[in-house]
Amino acid sequence: MVAASAPGKLILFGEHAVVFGEPALSVAIDLRTRVDAASAQTATVNGRPLTRQEFPYLEAGIRHHGFPDPLSITISSSIPKAAGMGSSAALTVSLLACLQALRGSMNMESIARTGFEVELDVQGRASPIDTTTSTQGGGILLLKERSDGFLWRIERGDRAWNLHSCSLPEMILVVGNTGIEAPTGPLVAGVQKLAEARAEARKAIGRIGRITLEGLSALSSGDLELAGRLMEENHVLLNSLGVGHPLLDDFVEASRPYSYGAKLTGAGGGGSMICLTDRPEPVVRAIEDRGGRAFIVSTESRGVAVDEQG
Ligand code: MEV
Repeated sequence: MVAASAPGKLILFGEHAVVFGEPALSVAIDLRTRVDAASAQTATVNGRPLTRQEFPYLEAGIRHHGFPDPLSITISSSIPKAAGMGSSAALTVSLLACLQALRGSMNMESIARTGFEVELDVQGRASPIDTTTSTQGGGILLLKERSDGFLWRIERGDRAWNLHSCSLPEMILVVGNTGIEAPTGPLVAGVQKLAEARAEARKAIGRIGRITLEGLSALSSGDLELAGRLMEENHVLLNSLGVGHPLLDDFVEASRPYSYGAKLTGAGGGGSMICLTDRPEPVVRAIEDRGGRAFIVSTESRGVAVDEQG
């Protein structure tokens, strides 16, 4: 048997625009998913039959890796599902680490690459941001061109992403979760349609890419006020792409008196927002008063890891 775990992630800037090849910045967080896998007569997950319908990421993960034998899989996770916190990437990446470990090897780049194929397979369209962040841990920057901290390059059709490890300052982030589960695939498809139909949507996508680079430089120089203003602008642009939700706007507004800035994070349509603050407790109360679930999270440098092997 083998057990592996991988962290969740938060996108600080650039979600959705990254699918079109624009820059994006994300960070791994201190919530993890663990997968235990052992040889078995039939393939099961938490005691239930492993079907594509019920466990699409696991089914696709096993298929893309090409693992031939049935496994009994157990999942445990502290990452809320479909909440913009990278739960499906953490599950996929932990599974792939188990499959590699069962064959006696472990290669981060190949986990990130196969993880991306799995997300594409299940979601229809995706960027490699979630799976690389969950694999590598720490801060991850996606750029069109290669720069310092280069990890690997992933290509798909006419799009290419150069993935980089980047150092980010210590930050306190509060996540406000709406409790509304919104699957990523249809949201990404909606933005795609809008971008094909409307020049303003394409302009918004380009501006989000530039905000990402300005946001990274604000965070790196410790200018949290500027980073916060850029988060607010990024939030408005994501709303204009149709991936917002009134509850997310409520949480952003409620957290404003105690924060540098806030924005939706991940795919949106529900899911979660993040707030950059040095006063997390009043932010948590403000979000909870509006009916949300709030978590104070810290950044995590540890990526995917094999926890047990026997
Ligand atoms: C989801 O966490 C981030 C999106 O940009 C989709 C992706 O990059 O695959 C919405």
